[in-house]
Amino acid sequence: MSLKGKKIVLGITGSIAAYKAAYLTRALIRKGSEVQVVMTPAGKEFITPVTLSALTGKPVVSEFFTANDGTWHSHVDLGLWADAMIIAPATASTIGKMANGIADNMLITTYLSMKAPVFIAPAMDLDMYAHPSTQRNINTLKSFKNHIIEPATGFLASKLEGKGRMEEPDEIIKQLEIFFSKGDSLSKKKVLITAGPTYEKLDPVRYIGNYSSGKMGFALAEACASRGADVVLITGPVNLSVKHSSIQRINVESADQMYQKVTGIFQDMDVAILCAAVADYKPVVFSKNKIKRKEKEPMLIELTPNPDIAATLGKIKKKGQIIAGFALETDNEEENASGKLKKKNLDFIVLNSMNDSGAGFKTDTNKITILFPDNSKKDFPLKSKTDVANDIVDEIEQLLIQ
Ligand code: C5P
Repeated sequence: MSLKGKKIVLGITGSIAAYKAAYLTRALIRKGSEVQVVMTPAGKEFITPVTLSALTGKPVVSEFFTANDGTWHSHVDLGLWADAMIIAPATASTIGKMANGIADNMLITTYLSMKAPVFIAPAMDLDMYAHPSTQRNINTLKSFKNHIIEPATGFLASKLEGKGRMEEPDEIIKQLEIFFSKGDSLSKKKVLITAGPTYEKLDPVRYIGNYSSGKMGFALAEACASRGADVVLITGPVNLSVKHSSIQRINVESADQMYQKVTGIFQDMDVAILCAAVADYKPVVFSKNKIKRKEKEPMLIELTPNPDIAATLGKIKKKGQIIAGFALETDNEEENASGKLKKKNLDFIVLNSMNDSGAGFKTDTNKITILFPDNSKKDFPLKSKTDVANDIVDEIEQLLIQ
C-alpha cells in the first residue's frame, strides 16, 4: 500500500542483472507507483528500452537530447519530480561515477540532481564487489546517506559463486515499503544497541563464549537507522557487516569492555536495546601462557560474575530514556523473563524461547513475546529477524510518543 502513488525514478545500468529490472518495474507499477526509467548507454545493451517503456507507459530517458528534434531531457526536473530513485542494477562503474560526480550520462546527472532518497542495488562479480575501490565508493555513497541494498551471495553470471548478485526485486520493493511506511519516525533519536556474544579470555588461545550470531541486534540497528535514528551498535565478535550509514559500530570482546563502552555513552542516548548475549561469568585468572593439558586431574576454572550492563543502565535511567532487554529462556520462560524485566528496571523485555523451533541464536528467524512492566504481553508469530526487529522498534516508537 505504501508505494501507491509514489513517483519512482528507476536507473538501469549495464549489468546482466538488468533483466530483473523489468520485473522490478512491473512490481512497482502493480503496487501503484509511477515509474520513470533512466538508462545508461550500457544498460540498453542488456535490456531494451522498448520493454521498459511498454511496462511504464513512458518513454525511457537515456540521452540528454532526443536526436531527431533536439528536445532537452531535464534531469533537474526528474530530481524534483521523484519520491525515490532506485538504481538497480548498479554496476561498479556507475557506483564509481556516482561517488565521484562523473556526470557523463543521463543517469548520473539525474542522480546528482536528485532531491529524493536514493536506493542503490549493486550487481557485479564477487571480486569486483570485494575490491577496495568498489568498497570505498560504496562507503562514499553511504556517507551521502544513500541507501545501499546489499547484494546477495549466490550463483553469479560469471559462473562463480559469491557476494555480488543483485538483490531480488521483491526484496528491493520490501525495503522501499519499509522506508515509506516508517519514514523518519526516529529522526533525531539516539539509539544504543548491544549485540552478539562476549568472549571471556582464559589464556592467549581460549575463551568462554556462546552461540550468539548477532543477527537480531544487527537487524535492530538497521531497522532503527532506516527510521532515521542515529545508532551506536556495540557488538561482541560476530561475522556480520553494517549496511546503513547512520550506524556507528563499536567492536568489543569481553563483557567488561562492553560495559565500559555502554556506560560511557548511555547518558546521551534516548533508547537502549540490549540484545547482546553477555557472558554471566568470566574467569578469575587470565593465564598469560597457554594452559597445559594434564593427563589425570580434572580442569577447574574459577569464575566470577560479570557486571550486569542492563541492570546498571536500569539504575541510572533518567525520565524519558527507554531500555529494552532480551531474555532467551529454556524453562519457566515468561516467569523468568518477567523477573528480569522488573529486576533490571526495563521498559519491556523481548522473550525468545529455546523451545520454539526457528527461534534463538543462529537462525534467520525468531518468535518473540514482548512483556511489559504492567504484566501485559504481546505474542508474535515466527518471522524473519528483519520483521521481528521492526515489530520491536514499533514498540519503542509507541513508548517514545507516550
Ligand atoms: O543474561 P540475562 O538473561 O540476564 O540477560 C537479560 C538481558 O540483560 C539481556 O537484554 C542482556 O543483553 C542483558 N544483560 C546485560 N549484561 C549482562 C547480562 C545480561 O546487559 N551481564
